[in-house]
Amino acid sequence: MKNGSSPGRASGLTGRQWLACLLVASTLVGCSQEPPPPPKAPPTPEEKSKNTISKAPFGTLPDGTAVDLYTMVNANGMEVRASNYGGIITALLVPDSSGKVSDITLGLKSFDDYLKNPPYFGAIIGRYGNRIAKGQFKIDGQTYKLPKNDGANTLHGGLKGFDKVVWQAEPFEKEDSVGVIFTYTSKDGEEGFPGNLQTRVTYTLTDKNELSFDYHATTDKPTVVNLTQHAYFNLAGDGSGDVLGHEFTIFANEYTPVNKGLIPTGKIEPVTDTPFDFRNKVVLGSRINDTHPQVKLAGGFDHNFVIRRKEPGLALAARVSEPSTRRVMEVHTTEPGVQFYTGNFLDNTLAAKPGKPYAKHSGFCLETQHYPDSPNQPEFPSTVLRPGEEYNSRTVYTFSVR
Ligand code: BGC
Repeated sequence: MKNGSSPGRASGLTGRQWLACLLVASTLVGCSQEPPPPPKAPPTPEEKSKNTISKAPFGTLPDGTAVDLYTMVNANGMEVRASNYGGIITALLVPDSSGKVSDITLGLKSFDDYLKNPPYFGAIIGRYGNRIAKGQFKIDGQTYKLPKNDGANTLHGGLKGFDKVVWQAEPFEKEDSVGVIFTYTSKDGEEGFPGNLQTRVTYTLTDKNELSFDYHATTDKPTVVNLTQHAYFNLAGDGSGDVLGHEFTIFANEYTPVNKGLIPTGKIEPVTDTPFDFRNKVVLGSRINDTHPQVKLAGGFDHNFVIRRKEPGLALAARVSEPSTRRVMEVHTTEPGVQFYTGNFLDNTLAAKPGKPYAKHSGFCLETQHYPDSPNQPEFPSTVLRPGEEYNSRTVYTFSVR
């Protein structure tokens, strides 16, 4: 304290008054004093293995904004790392059948590499997931033009989609789960889309090894919304090569074929007697070079499958298993479609997390969604959201071993 003054002097008390105060205070403390709490017992095994979340700095954007990385760990040691930059999942650590934990999601080496992230590794995709033909659409007779970032079309929300923005993050820890609530307001006119869109995406890791995504949005003008998560998986472990040995079951009777720009033709075709029939388990390698024109055109699979469902709510969309590690992943969703993408554009050019670059088919995505280009396809389920309505969507990835 400055000039060696005591607290009493600073408050203007005389020495005697100060002493009196001390006496009164100590008596009061003495009267109300309770026995000290017993020393804390060491945590029980249950307490030790609770779900936890922690936060650490991840990087700094060119404009100086600092972003964080949240690490969620569940009671079984499953771990998810996600940033408030684009909601990007940078790591997903999951045990195999022998209990060995490996990272099973693809990603980049450093935060700076994620500033570009051309394959959208691990990110939240919005305001409109997948493609909008010719970068334009109409609502109520009014045309809206979007930036074209994929040839003649708009992909994954435009030049600066939801994968490249900073989200507000609110972590939570519960008895049986842990997670982060990400919120972001996309301004009216942002990337050409109408309406201020209040968006919330909640990531939850449960102690049943489920990773869920709950999407919610409201708008103040009619707009289109199609949110998804773009994690790439390799159930044998990130960096362990291609995913051609994985076994896929996709619970879809139909799919939406595409034209050259990967824009749906508008048709909804049955999968029967085509390489798109994944209703019974298929080893990906047995189909990836199929001579079907749709598979050739995409260089593998990059198609929307129409999820078979009896009623609204969560439906099982896909199951993937990997024979060497016996890891299994299931995808349940409330969405009508899932984009099965087999990493066809991965071309050994990125600063891949495991060191060696990612070659074609090093990972797969199962992006739950409304169908691509729905804003221009009147036959597809609508993606229009109007003021007063709520956009609600839920997807759950469940990891297990067999
Ligand atoms: C699309 C692909 C695209 C990939 C990365 C997927 O959702 O369907 O065509 O290359 O995302 O952008």
